[in-house]
Amino acid sequence: MRGRTMTILPHSCRCKSARVAVGLVLVLLAGTLGAPTPCRAQVAGEAGTFSRPRLLKRFDTNTDGNLNDAETTALRQAFGGIDVPMLPSGPLNYSRVRRPPHVDASHLAGADNTPEINPLTNHGATLGRVLFYDRQLSRNLTTACASCHLQRAAFTDPRQFSRGFKGKLTRRNSMSLVNLRFTNLNGQRPGFFWDERAATLEDQVLLPIQDPVEMGMKLEELIPRLRKLPYYPDLFRAAFGSKSITSSRVARALAQFVRSMVSLDSRYDRAAARKDDDIALTRLEQQGETLFVEGVGGIAEFACAMCHVPPTFNMPKAQNIGLDLTGIKSTRKTKAAKDRKSAKGGKPLDRGLGELGRPSNDPFTPSNDGKFKAPSLRNVALTAPYMHDGRFKTLEQVIAHYSGKVRPHPNLGLAFEDNSSDKRESGFQFNKTQQQALVAFLKTLTDKSFVADAKFSDPFIRSRK
Ligand code: HEC
Ligand code: HEC
Repeated sequence: MRGRTMTILPHSCRCKSARVAVGLVLVLLAGTLGAPTPCRAQVAGEAGTFSRPRLLKRFDTNTDGNLNDAETTALRQAFGGIDVPMLPSGPLNYSRVRRPPHVDASHLAGADNTPEINPLTNHGATLGRVLFYDRQLSRNLTTACASCHLQRAAFTDPRQFSRGFKGKLTRRNSMSLVNLRFTNLNGQRPGFFWDERAATLEDQVLLPIQDPVEMGMKLEELIPRLRKLPYYPDLFRAAFGSKSITSSRVARALAQFVRSMVSLDSRYDRAAARKDDDIALTRLEQQGETLFVEGVGGIAEFACAMCHVPPTFNMPKAQNIGLDLTGIKSTRKTKAAKDRKSAKGGKPLDRGLGELGRPSNDPFTPSNDGKFKAPSLRNVALTAPYMHDGRFKTLEQVIAHYSGKVRPHPNLGLAFEDNSSDKRESGFQFNKTQQQALVAFLKTLTDKSFVADAKFSDPFIRSRK
């Protein structure tokens, strides 16, 4: 029962089963206490549970899973003053996807990028969750993955650019982490990041740790540091069968946690699942859905859904949507001049996939310049600002771009090419109502249970100042 029922219970839940499940947990270690090992994690695959260390039993009086100040201080002292994770006594469900009836099982299976060498397990994702929130992964202990990927913002950063461990800004806007397990679409296996530079999630997750702006760690330093932390050996054993801590295991656990972040429980899904009236989409939202899926004038090639594919709303490959006039001469002098100025004024224009020197990803476009891959549009109402450089603050501004402000570019996506009477200012020409409808539809993709789900939340007991 424990574990399985937990997925929907927030940490602050007061019911009895929650109390048992959230009962402080594992982490334990005798070393720091100089006492005999108070407990051994007992693990038997998915069904395994951690028995609660005696030390932590003292904190059992706490009824809602939250510690008071005195308890927090005492617990942290027992661990030498570091942040320690508090986990439920059995692992939560990360591996099983709750699929609403309108989502096709074969679509998900076809899009699943889970490699055979790294199946998603509940213990593996639990370890990944701890790593994701652990500031020990950064050089100066200030920055965790979660510093730039906030759950309340569907795991992106509300700031245009994120601050790394030394306070320096990242080059691009952070990306929301949603449905990254299901990215293989239309026969493509797109990479990760805005420019697709990481081929797999296992490759991707080690890069921010070593990035000189983001976390600034060397893997040779990280591994010994993790080995010294009291809570990791048992978590690694539960996840991988032995206490050995290696960078490949760190990568696999983080990738598992990221893959477990599946969001398929928005109003859009609920409305599709049951057709009753009080949950049905409004007429405006429905009009937006039709435009999104069927395209302008019912021409599917011109639909948003060509690039942002339902039901995960992921992108099969990087595309150019005419944000900048990179590399071409324009008859529009004012805009061209503006672009040149921004290129001169310090930051050169971001060429996205074009910077990697790969052959064009599309036979109809000469190169990859200005091509980017967007994160899933699931929860997009929570993930502002938008685009690789966070240039748009609102969804209205995004739709205004698509509606008449798409700029000419030799690499422009097919949907935009012929979509205008004026080729120099191409793009869909949505009227006011259509623009409102598209925004209204995008807002139906918000999944409140995803951003409140305790299994994705910060497990650490932090000092309260
Ligand atoms: C300092 C901020 C920062 C930290 C820390 C950080 N990220 Fe990111 N993350 C970003 C930014 C910015 C991007 C987009 C970068 C780009 O495309 O060039 C990104 C992109 C990603 C992506 C790609 C998503 C996609 O759709 O392709 C994943 C996955 C990811 N981060 C996971 C992680 C993990 C796991 C960690 C911790 C090991 C982490 N990040 C730490 C800022 C951060
Ligand atoms: C040709 C492919 C393509 C089409 C068609 C398309 N998009 Fe996009 N979309 C993208 C790309 C690529 C990005 C990211 C661009 C960047 O940052 O440089 C993006 C970004 C977005 C974003 C911002 C996402 C974020 O997290 O920053 C939203 C919202 C969006 N698109 C909605 C739509 C809507 C609505 C339509 C239909 C009117 C549409 N898109 C049509 C490719 C497309």
